[in-house]
Amino acid sequence: MANDEPPIAEQYFAEQPHARSVRAERRFLYRGELLTFLVDTGTFSSHGLDPGTSLLIENLVLRPTDRVLDLGCGWGAVGVAAAKAATEGEVVLTDVNRRATRLARENLERNRVRNAEVRVGSLYEPVEAERFDVIATNPPFHAGRELVLRIIEQAPDHLRPDGRLVLVGKGSQGIRFYQEWLEAHWPGPVTVLGRGSGYRVVEARMHGDGRPSNFPALAAARRHSVGGRSR
Ligand SMILES: C[S@@+](CC[C@H](N)C(=O)[O-])C[C@H]1O[C@@H](n2cnc3c(N)ncnc32)[C@H](O)[C@@H]1O
Repeated sequence: MANDEPPIAEQYFAEQPHARSVRAERRFLYRGELLTFLVDTGTFSSHGLDPGTSLLIENLVLRPTDRVLDLGCGWGAVGVAAAKAATEGEVVLTDVNRRATRLARENLERNRVRNAEVRVGSLYEPVEAERFDVIATNPPFHAGRELVLRIIEQAPDHLRPDGRLVLVGKGSQGIRFYQEWLEAHWPGPVTVLGRGSGYRVVEARMHGDGRPSNFPALAAARRHSVGGRSR
């Protein structure tokens, strides 16, 4: 519902949303288990599960031992689902929005998740020297292309050999731009895992640990060279 969304001056990625808290309970079925969540105003998709997030969760195939980062976790849908799949692994959920991280923590509890934790902070700050098998994200497209490209460019520093960055987005959010950017610059194969309702889930896999040492510099230079292109 449009009037559930935070005012334009206070987007869902505000650190401390001021919108009056209006919590509600939402549920969805994940691999036969009914998961229950608290959602709230001042956070992304405060009315319930976003269709892009749903497509991401559906296409996120994990090994039981995977270590997963849910970057920009919101109220925790991706992280909770990932923790249910990676039963012998672990999940770290991060977000800048403190209302979202509080909810995500509560939602781990509600769903009896023990192999996950929530941390507050921007981009990769909360996981500075850590690496993951999978980084899964429905990125904050509203925060701008610069920020989304930083998530992509810095991902290789936080992926294990053969690790994967998996992101979802729709045409109007520029997902084709990011897919093409990855196909041109990412040090490994890029695949579309799923499509639906205008969204696509894009996976970028590390080729072993074959990250060129100058990838960030290359990436920044190339970003300027493609910066004028449409989303
Ligand atoms: C599109 S929402 C996705 C939320 C959740 N993963 C989902 O799919 O429902 C993007 C999330 O990124 C968060 N975010 C915005 N800027 C961020 C940053 N610099 N670092 C980490 N998270 C950020 C927002 O607060 C928001 O919760």
